[in-house]
Amino acid sequence: MIEGIARLASEAADRISGSASLDDLRHVEGEQLGKRSPLSEYKKLLAGLEPEQRKAVGLALNEVRASLELLVVTRRDELESAELVERFGSERLDLTEVESQGRRGHLHLVTQTHDRLEDVFVGMGFTVAEGPEAETDWYNFEALNFPAGHPARTMYDTLYLNVGEPEGTVLRTHTSPVQIHVMQEQEPPIYSIMPGRVYRRDTADASHMPVFHQIEGLVIDKGITFGDLAGTLEAFTTAYFGGSIHSRLRPSYFPFTEPSAEYDINCIFCEGSGCRTCAQTGWLELGGCGMVHPNVFRAVGYDPEQWSGFAFGFGTDRLSLMRYGIDDIRDMFTNDVRFLEQF
Ligand code: DAH
Repeated sequence: MIEGIARLASEAADRISGSASLDDLRHVEGEQLGKRSPLSEYKKLLAGLEPEQRKAVGLALNEVRASLELLVVTRRDELESAELVERFGSERLDLTEVESQGRRGHLHLVTQTHDRLEDVFVGMGFTVAEGPEAETDWYNFEALNFPAGHPARTMYDTLYLNVGEPEGTVLRTHTSPVQIHVMQEQEPPIYSIMPGRVYRRDTADASHMPVFHQIEGLVIDKGITFGDLAGTLEAFTTAYFGGSIHSRLRPSYFPFTEPSAEYDINCIFCEGSGCRTCAQTGWLELGGCGMVHPNVFRAVGYDPEQWSGFAFGFGTDRLSLMRYGIDDIRDMFTNDVRFLEQF
């Protein structure tokens, strides 16, 4: 009988060790150690044995059961860790693989140009400020010394918003109103640039869009002169366009500066000798500038006797067009990915 039990034990041990999965092991466990297992059948026979024999067989049965139970626990541990390893393997997510499969986008040409402009001005000690695109008439015109009915208002083909008083709210026609916000929000000295989107009632063509971009500059301090304005724009010009491109200022008129000037640079294509882009003049017009008008200081409560400053503003989309030789500004805003991904 003891021999039979030993044979049974070795068979059961093989079945347990050979179980291939947790499910399989559960099944084998029931089969080898459960109520209907051969081991349990042997136990039922104990009652009919002599006391001595009963003791020996009972002892053997208990030992076999204990060692098989231990074997089940060990095998279960093994199978559990194997299944975990397999699950981790199948659920593995390698983010570097995901990235290499996808296509990466990049910043829009307008943003790239503004980033480059900001880098140059920040390098010269300027901070960057922003203002709202919807402005009241006061910010866009009045505070900039264009009173109601001022003829210079006709230079700006204004888009009005249908809110509040008729013609009281506009889509800003230039970034100059941000000068007013900056002066209201902080005390001088001020050395700031203000990039942003502006709007005019224009029909789109190869060189015009009703929505375009400008960058504004404002410096307010004690004893600022026109020479500081000219020097700052010249330093910016050589830093941004390269050392062979210089600037010049021509007399002009803007209500919010006095004196006012146009800011030109050497044509970046012919470097001054004359070509189609500069209409044979050797110069490209970038924007306007001048010394901040005393009425602008009064509008924001600054004392014009104490402070002086200069301002400038120019369109930035033309810089993007020139940089890449793009001949139609509309292409920049149609947002066809095949066009945009080239830059
Ligand atoms: N805001 C003007 C325009 O859009 C450009 C300009 C001229 C800005 C002179 C200035 C300035 O800051 O001083 O036509």
